[in-house]
Amino acid sequence: MARESYETHDYDVVVVGAGGAGLRAGIEAHDKGAKTAIICKSLLGKAHTVMAEGGIAAAMGNVWPEDNWKVHFRDTMRGGKLLNNWRMAQIHAQQAPDRVLELEEWGALFDRTDEGLILQRDFGGHRYARLAHVGDRTGLEMIRTLQQRTVALGIDVYMECNIQHLLMNDGRVTGVLGYWRESGDLISFNCKSVVLATGGSGKCWQVTSNSWEYSGDGMGMAMEVGSDLIDMEKVQFHPTGMVWPPSVRGILVTEGVRGDGGTLLNSEGERFMFNYIPEFFKAETADNEAEADAWYQDKKNNRRTPDLLPRDEVARAINSEVKAGRGTEHGGVLLDIAGRRDAEYIQRRLPSMYHQFKELADVDITKEAMEVGPTCHYIMGGIRVDADTSATTVPGLYAAGEVAGGLHGANRLGGNSLSDLLVFGRIAGGSAADYALGAAASPAPDPAEVDRLTALMLEPFTDRGDENPYAIHSDLQRTMHNLVGIIRTESEMLKALEEIAVYKDRAARVKVEGGRRFNPGWHLALDLKSLLGVAEAATLSALECKESRGGHTRDDYPDPDPKFGTVNVVTRRQDGSVSVSLEPLPEMPEELKKIVEEQV
Ligand code: FUM
Repeated sequence: MARESYETHDYDVVVVGAGGAGLRAGIEAHDKGAKTAIICKSLLGKAHTVMAEGGIAAAMGNVWPEDNWKVHFRDTMRGGKLLNNWRMAQIHAQQAPDRVLELEEWGALFDRTDEGLILQRDFGGHRYARLAHVGDRTGLEMIRTLQQRTVALGIDVYMECNIQHLLMNDGRVTGVLGYWRESGDLISFNCKSVVLATGGSGKCWQVTSNSWEYSGDGMGMAMEVGSDLIDMEKVQFHPTGMVWPPSVRGILVTEGVRGDGGTLLNSEGERFMFNYIPEFFKAETADNEAEADAWYQDKKNNRRTPDLLPRDEVARAINSEVKAGRGTEHGGVLLDIAGRRDAEYIQRRLPSMYHQFKELADVDITKEAMEVGPTCHYIMGGIRVDADTSATTVPGLYAAGEVAGGLHGANRLGGNSLSDLLVFGRIAGGSAADYALGAAASPAPDPAEVDRLTALMLEPFTDRGDENPYAIHSDLQRTMHNLVGIIRTESEMLKALEEIAVYKDRAARVKVEGGRRFNPGWHLALDLKSLLGVAEAATLSALECKESRGGHTRDDYPDPDPKFGTVNVVTRRQDGSVSVSLEPLPEMPEELKKIVEEQV
């Protein structure tokens, strides 16, 4: 058989993914002197980063001078139910303010306090108003700024280029292999180090804020070359996605609505969140309406409204209300800001939400309540990385952003994603550049291995069956939604594993029609590999984790179990199958334990 032809490029560092983490990594690698390429699956600027609308969490102390990295660290650890990698949480809290200021120097236009400082807003689980923001379009502004700098620095960007495999030689990463989405032509990159910044895998679930790109590619590729994944069962269902009309179900409704005064109501008009305050957060949460309303007036001397509990708590509460028959007509609850804020305030602070509801649902949020419900938004688990370098367990491979696990523990606080991308994108890019510039020449990719992987990519064109990739994807999403969703049980997850095995079998018999030139059926057929691999890893981890904590709730094990409070659930591919083990978390130093335990 004639060898497939493909174009080849040579770099020191290749960054796969062009959301906040990928762009920040690329900038850092470039600034360190490494010849750097950034590769993105879709168009530059189209990243899940833009779905972090409400702001970047950073203890800048602009609104509350009392705020500092220690309080941010404490909030992040408590929000993550102490399952976080403490060192990542410390680095994140310490470096986030500098990353925000740097973004401002690079041109980001933040909203301002009366004194002209960067304005910060309230979000769930954060003790102080700490989210630096640009209306409700913060992720978009962040991407715009980083993208502009990337282009100004002359960093090579490959758009609409889908990377499918990491190339290895002698136990280290030596490049990546993929194809141009438009032409279907193959492309390979030889390099000394790779940063994975491909985001999450929300597209495994049926109702999600994620767009089509988020098929778990980085997690799947890392697993393929022997990298560890941790805590894949910890999945964040953002409490407020749109629920109506069906075509927009899952689209994000920013937590900024609640941060700016919005309250949650059930179909009986009750502010039900008062019924769901967990023991862990009782000391700092208002337990009646009068006290919560007082907090809106005087945030200094009152306990916070329970509408701003961490996301896992709010999503579970909404789920319970709907199950108890107190949901809305379309299976959600109500989110009302019109009762507390006037139209000018709402349109100034939440312009995207105003337009989103007006145009997509014909709802005027300055007058009416929004119908909202949980939507799969973020994966706390991901590739295991070293906190100080973002190195994975595979030499030459780094990971940052949602694709990496550890920072957020069992539940991520809103706004900590954007700061995560900036802090760890920079660290990963810098480490990858150091590695590349210090490394001897890369061993060339093994041609036989490249041929094997190429053949895998072209298999869907061969005559091997008649399965349709869209049908398999839709079946997988239904399985994950119904059987590995917000509330889980052993019997349902065992059923999910059986169904995933059937889908894998079907995926091996996918046949795509037509040629390689812009063929979305082929693209999805290839993405099924990571979608199914990540769904399987998440389900296996969820079965192993016999407790409830953060973004993992088991009906059959409804409480946290101390046995799982000090370990990561680790999944790794071994001899063709996936193994699951419990491995101890790094021990937190005493001085940091004191900060976490402090009552405020
Ligand atoms: O609700 C939001 O604006 C989302 C923020 C985040 O996920 O960090």
